[in-house]
Amino acid sequence: MQKKILDAFLFRHAAKDFDAARIIPEPVFATILQAGRLSPSSFGFEPWRFLVVQDAALRAKLHAFTWGGQKQIPNCSHLVVYLARKGMDTRADSDYVRDFVDRVQALPADVQKMKLERYEAFQKDDFNLWGDERALFDWACKQVYIALGNMMTVAALLGVDSCPMEGFQQQRIDEVLASDFGIDQSQYGVACMAAFGYRVADPRPKTRQALHDVVQWF
Ligand SMILES: Cc1cc2nc3c(=O)[nH]c(=O)nc-3n(C[C@H](O)[C@H](O)[C@H](O)COP(=O)(O)O)c2cc1C
Repeated sequence: MQKKILDAFLFRHAAKDFDAARIIPEPVFATILQAGRLSPSSFGFEPWRFLVVQDAALRAKLHAFTWGGQKQIPNCSHLVVYLARKGMDTRADSDYVRDFVDRVQALPADVQKMKLERYEAFQKDDFNLWGDERALFDWACKQVYIALGNMMTVAALLGVDSCPMEGFQQQRIDEVLASDFGIDQSQYGVACMAAFGYRVADPRPKTRQALHDVVQWF
């Protein structure tokens, strides 16, 4: 088991190009998506959306503003754009969060109240997020990256390559998402993208700092 997991981490690399003729089988990609859906998030509020972009014309729109995915976007089997909830939608007093504790988490009314009070205190006092749209959005993005990481790891366990991508003009991508994908910019912003598929070339050997350089025991 340990070997299987480490092998998957060694197999995973940021693939720079993909074999456009090889498509990830539907059940395999469904499992990768489930890894995203089942990922943890702060207070369990899932401040994300995963857009699977298979349409070539829509990919071309994203491609125009993504210097970090020039081969990945057109050639990958599946392209995912990760959206994060905009700040005010993640606040304890937002309709989104109030609906979430009720409808998705199905908490009893008294538990909802306690949870929202704790969440509000956390956002105001503990993490100093409350009045800062950018801080709230970045905090949502941090959670989106957990889903991204889990999806890439599960892909690697299933023999699927991937490439995370932040090499894009964020504002321009948000505009494309609004004009061509119907995304409401007041609710969501782009956090990152990931290409999934099959490599065309093996990567150069992995470089990483030694474990003793990055881990401190106390
Ligand atoms: C948040 C994030 C954004 C990244 N953006 C890009 C990108 O736009 N294009 C790209 O080719 N690689 C991108 N990478 C890949 C990194 O360059 C790569 O993970 C790192 O160099 C380590 O190499 P490895 O993943 O192959 O082991 C990104 C990685 C992360 C985590």
